[in-house]
Order: sequence, then structure tokens, then C-alpha cells
Amino acid sequence: MTSSLPKAPWGVLETALRLAKAPIKTLDQAKRSVNGNYILPSVWGPAYVICEKDVVDTLSKELNWNIVQKDPVTEDSPDPLKQLGGDFNVTSDGYFHKHFRDTLRNQFSRYRLDDYAEVLIKSFDYFTKDWEQQKAIEFSQKIGDITLHVICKGILDIDFSIEEKIHIRKTINRVYTLETQYIILGSIATSVLSPWAFGYRRMANKMRNIFDSKIDGVAQCPFSKSYIKEFIKKEQNTRSPVVDVGRKKIIDDLLGLTVAGLDTVNVATTWAMRILIERPDVVEKIRAEAEVAKKSSVDNNIDYKMIPYARSVFLETLRLYPPFPLIIKQTVDEMVLGSTLIPSKSWVFFLAYSMHRDSRWFTDPDEFIPERWHGNEWGLEEAAFLPFGAGIHRCQGWELALIEGSLLIALIYNKYDVEPVKKLGNYNVAYIPYKYKINLCVKGGLPLRFKRRKHSLSRGLT
Ligand code: HEM
Repeated sequence: MTSSLPKAPWGVLETALRLAKAPIKTLDQAKRSVNGNYILPSVWGPAYVICEKDVVDTLSKELNWNIVQKDPVTEDSPDPLKQLGGDFNVTSDGYFHKHFRDTLRNQFSRYRLDDYAEVLIKSFDYFTKDWEQQKAIEFSQKIGDITLHVICKGILDIDFSIEEKIHIRKTINRVYTLETQYIILGSIATSVLSPWAFGYRRMANKMRNIFDSKIDGVAQCPFSKSYIKEFIKKEQNTRSPVVDVGRKKIIDDLLGLTVAGLDTVNVATTWAMRILIERPDVVEKIRAEAEVAKKSSVDNNIDYKMIPYARSVFLETLRLYPPFPLIIKQTVDEMVLGSTLIPSKSWVFFLAYSMHRDSRWFTDPDEFIPERWHGNEWGLEEAAFLPFGAGIHRCQGWELALIEGSLLIALIYNKYDVEPVKKLGNYNVAYIPYKYKINLCVKGGLPLRFKRRKHSLSRGLT
């Protein structure tokens, strides 16, 4: 059987040029021109681009997701993500992947999620204390202070100095830029030609050393609920010699978790804020819900379980602007998807961006309608909604992400009036300009001005 999929309308060179300029737009255009799944000629060889829900359905129901992350880790891998994080959840498969995933599972249990929500709420006023004195807050930058704190204090129980945090943020930023070039232009461009690659290994090693220096302190703390303790306990309880993964693997895993959990929530919350500038009606509903949540709580805080509307706003944001609009995998064995034979070790791209905007699965896809998520989060189980990926590598922090996103939106609008610093232009909310850096960012950033709301001043909301 040969593949019956149509090809994208361009050759390798033109595809590469188009991808370098506007990757997601290019992939979406090809989907629209062939009207379904297609084969993309890429520098890596042909990639199978999946935009049809039934293929994802088949994969999950019948084929046990016999599809993996990209090529196995080698010490000298040119992949910037692997140079930083080595062999962690996102980049590994098989035994290590299962081992890490199992170890991490407890960290996302209900009681741990409650801990993280508390860390976020308690730190919110501290991190936003000078927002209203500033002429402009670059939102995605500032919100990262809070989300990094949730990972460090909540999940890892590590205290980093300000300089260490700055280095972590810079390195993660760099890894996203380099990873984009790596995927689009290929390894040679990344390791040889790119000026951005200069000094990257040094930065990555420094970040690894920072994490390394924290492990013993946490491991010795008897009451810590840190993931580091969980990891070490699991190592000690497992007899198999294969599991003697040692210190390097703990660092790999901590780095992986930090990379996975940081700029994802940041960019998604930034998109929510960008959209809400256009939708004062939605802001009013978020505020009304937050008020009720506060009034009904004993400590005047917002309980994340009491703000379903804010959660729907965040879900709807993830639909229109999924932080990972493209999820890249490889087949393990040859497989048949629909009427298409996909050879082993082929690239398979899941184009979440286009699937989320398909009217067959989302009515009025270009409209921002939080209500579509009300009372049923069916979408999270649906093959057409892939902000968190799917299958054996599905995001493990998805519930934490939804809690963080909805709480941040509710807390911010409860406390502040928000306005953009510069003129933003007139865009339909579904077509706000973006920049693709593996994740989808608001183009040009989002400088905002925050003014304390009168009612929150009078109630001493600090
Ligand atoms: C809005 C925020 C987030 C989005 C959109 C997101 C999205 C994703 C996606 C698309 C994947 C890859 C799934 C696949 O390959 O099929 C992933 C993996 C992962 N995410 Fe998230 N994520 C978010 C937040 C978080 C947070 C807050 C954490 C934890 C702190 C986290 C932890 C992970 C981990 C550990 C993996 C690797 C899972 C594996 O390979 O088995 N994520 N995420």
C-alpha cells in the first residue's frame, strides 16, 4: 500500500523558506489547500501532518499511541532541548519515560494541587506589589515570576536567588528560540550557523549546576513534600539495576519539569489577557464570579474550584492560541492511519492550531465563546482538542495549568483595572498577530498598565 495523502503545494526549498518565515501559517495554509491531512516535504524528510480528528481517535483507541517523541537522546545530540535537559519526560521514551512519569504522578494528586493553588494565592500580592507604580508591565515577563515560584516552591520546594531565577528564565527563553530553529531549519543551522547558539552550552550547563547545588538541601529536609524527595524514594525502592539513574537523571527531570511548566502557562495567560482587552463583557463576568468566590470563602481568598467561568475563559484561550500549536512525534513501527501507510521512524506533526479552528468540531470557531466549555469539559478528552497533547506523553501538569491560568485571571481582574500601554490595532480575537517560538507568543509582547480597582482598595485587598 502506498500513501494516499496529498502533498503540500510546495517543494522542499519553498517549504523551508515559508516555514522559516511563518511556520504555523504555512502549515495551516497547506491544510486549507488540501483540505485535510497531508505530506509536507521538510528538511527532515517527509512529515505527515495530521489535522483530522479521526486519525487522533484511531491512534488513541486502537493503536495505543504507537508513536513517540523524537529521536533517542545521545550525549552529542544537536537538539538544544536535549543539550539542556538530557533525558527527561518530554525527550525520552520507553523505560525511563515510564519511570519518570510514574514518579511524577503523585505530584499532581488533588492534595498537591491544593498546595500549589495556595502557593500561588499567597505569593500573588507579593509579586504584584509594584505593578500599579509602573508605567508599563511586560506581562509575560512579570507573570513568569509567579509561575516560576509555583514550580520552585510548590513542586520542587527549592529557594533560588534572584540571579539564579534570572539565569533560569534566560536559558529557558533561549532554548525555545533555538529549538524552533532546530525543528524548522535543521541541526546544522542551529549548531553551526545560528548566532543565537553561541554560548548556549555554557548557559545550559550553568542552569544544570544551579539545580545540582539544590538537591542535597531538599533531600535532607525531613518534612519537604518536594518532587526531589519523591524521586529519591522511588529510586531507593526499586531494585532493578536499570533504574540506577543517579544524579544526572534527577537534574534532567527537574529541568524538564521547569521547562515544561513555565513558558507554557505564561504564554497562555498572556493570550488570555490580550483577548480580554477586546472583551470587557467577559471581564465583567470573571469579576462577578471572583467576588462570589471570595465572599463564600472563610479567608476571603479565591478558591480555584469556585471559578468555573474563569477556567472556561482559559480553556477557550487554549483553543484559539494553544501554546504548542504543533506537536511533533515519530512513528515507532510502520502503521496504517486511515488509508495511509506511514513508514516507521516517520515524522508526524499534529497541527493542533488548525484542528482547534475547524467548524466540524467547534461551532463558530473564530468566536471567543467561554460558554462552550460550561458544565462539560468534554473537549479535554476529545481528539480534536490538543492543547496538552495526547497519548502516553500527554501533559502531566494539565490540571495545574488550568488551575494556575484561571486563578491568575480571576485574581488580576479582581484586583486591577487593566489597560494596554500601546495601541493594539483592530483585530478579530481569533486573528491577533503571533510569533512562533515552539510556543505561540503574542507578537511584540503585551505591555500593560495596572490600576487598583476602587472596591479592592476599600476592602484592603492586600
Ligand atoms: C497551559 C499550560 C501548558 C500547556 C499548554 C502544556 C502542554 C503540553 C504539551 C503539548 C505536552 C506534550 C504532550 C505530547 O507530546 O503529546 C506537555 C508535556 C508535559 N507537560 Fe505540559 N503544558 C502546560 C503546563 C504544564 C505544567 C504547569 C507542568 C508542570 C509543572 C507541565 C508538565 C508537563 C510534563 C512533565 C510533560 C511531559 C509529559 C511526558 O512526556 O510524558 N505542563 N505539556
